[in-house]
Amino acid sequence: MKITFIFALEFILNMLPKVNPLATKAWQALELRADAIGDKQLRTWFAEEPLRGESMVVSHEEIRLDYSKNRLDEETLLLLAELASACGLEEARDAFFGGELINETEHRAVMHPALRAPRDAHYLVEGVDVIPEVYRVLDQMESFCSTIHQGVKKGCTGKIFTDIVNIGIGGSDLGAVMVTEALRPYWVDGIQPHFVSNIDGNHLYQVLQKVNAETTLFIVSSKTFTTLETMTNAKSARAWFVQQMGSEAGVKDHFVAVSTNTEAVSAFGIDTRNMFEFWDWVGGRYSLSSAIGLSIALTVGFKNFRSLLDGMHAMDEHFRYAPLLGNMSVLMGLIGIWNINFLKMSTLAVLPYDQYLHRLPAYLQQLDMESNGKSVDRNGAPVHYATGPIVWGEAGTNGQHAFYQLIHQGTIEIPSDFIGVVKPSHPLPGHHNWLLANLIAQSRALMLGRTREEVLESGEKVSENVVPHKVFPGNRPSNTLLMKSLSPFALGQLIALYEHKVFVQGIIWNIYSFDQFGVELGKKLAVQIHPFLEDGRTDGSLDSSTNGLLAAIYDWK
Ligand code: F6P
Repeated sequence: MKITFIFALEFILNMLPKVNPLATKAWQALELRADAIGDKQLRTWFAEEPLRGESMVVSHEEIRLDYSKNRLDEETLLLLAELASACGLEEARDAFFGGELINETEHRAVMHPALRAPRDAHYLVEGVDVIPEVYRVLDQMESFCSTIHQGVKKGCTGKIFTDIVNIGIGGSDLGAVMVTEALRPYWVDGIQPHFVSNIDGNHLYQVLQKVNAETTLFIVSSKTFTTLETMTNAKSARAWFVQQMGSEAGVKDHFVAVSTNTEAVSAFGIDTRNMFEFWDWVGGRYSLSSAIGLSIALTVGFKNFRSLLDGMHAMDEHFRYAPLLGNMSVLMGLIGIWNINFLKMSTLAVLPYDQYLHRLPAYLQQLDMESNGKSVDRNGAPVHYATGPIVWGEAGTNGQHAFYQLIHQGTIEIPSDFIGVVKPSHPLPGHHNWLLANLIAQSRALMLGRTREEVLESGEKVSENVVPHKVFPGNRPSNTLLMKSLSPFALGQLIALYEHKVFVQGIIWNIYSFDQFGVELGKKLAVQIHPFLEDGRTDGSLDSSTNGLLAAIYDWK
């Protein structure tokens, strides 16, 4: 019965369009549109449309997107929406929320919205409602958090837990790090989180030097429970713990696991009653709302974790139901396509004007680049258009004193996402209006630029040979996202907004956004090279650079 159902689903799936975007009329029309727009200046758009900054805005709950400082108009947006429809965006969105196996190369559904849906919702994966399973684990997480926070669950020597060490990498680390940093004002008193990801022993070592084994809880977070970095760190942490305590007896009280792989968790020596499960329909970089968020819930309290999930759900619903051009994720996806494919800009700067969002660029790098860094389409053919951009960034004003020079006056045009928070989460006077002033000023400067005439009329004493250096080309596109506050709810909205933006772009580019085969080759070669380093030898079958590097390492060892 189940097999018949899978075949039926695959049949529906194969009916989904896998359209080469280049072959659509909308793509051709957009190319013409880009030619027609040429280098029309954003300052001209604003002069011609005095209400542009009010009309090119979409708000949802605690987040507001102003996309007016992009080099496009209503007609362009309509064509972009036409492109999205021609590429089957609406059908793909339905297939996604319908639990179809849209991650075809791994033969999996992609169902992270189920992780944050309300208890009475129904989300089907291969015809089975996954909500009861989701809530079984959420309830397990909630009760675990409360036993830790109330000091009911104690370490093996009877002391309460004070430190949490999450051991994981990629999707089992970046989201949790980003969110716990963002939600610092919500940290539960007496709990200090730590994150270890790098296989470089320095990462684990510096954490182990800070914590006391008796009061530390280790969370080994790995979807597969086979990842080299995580397993190496987990084994070293376990060995350190045993050495500190003088016996293995306490391991069961101090190590828990978050994984989809029960056998591997058990083989590692963690009691599966101390395992928090998630499922293969949750992609690693889409997993912070699953049990991978356990370190978040332990750090900020389950209530705040729930509020984060509620914000994500609010954005899921907005993405699912809002019309294309009133839909924040769709708009950001389409604007990205316009910048990348038609204005030929291949990068995106993420510029959060909030110190607590300092890990957002790193988190979005994995989300976007691991999802859409692809060059083969869903029909298996090479693509002949640009796909995922290079995503990078830094907390706002720090970036201003580092790389903004290039954004303003460099030869590369860089679209930017400015992210601001209206209500500060600190009480210090004299800071926040400056922060916001900088946020607004930078996107305005990028938009306006500064002409030669303006330099000359500025009243500044500028010698003739310096005048060209003081000119800013302007016309550099940006989005501005304003959040009401950096609350768990608003942060949840922001995260889901970007998740769905990536989805939109993947569909239009006709690529598979939910696999990541590009990370495998390097891992395989590391497994080949490791024995050479262990044995201290080189080999004629290796290339000369590899042999040279090995020899230099032996020399300096
Ligand atoms: O970097 C590759 C990757 O597979 C990511 O997609 C994933 O988030 C990360 O490794 C960690 O994987 P796991 O959770 O299975 O340890």
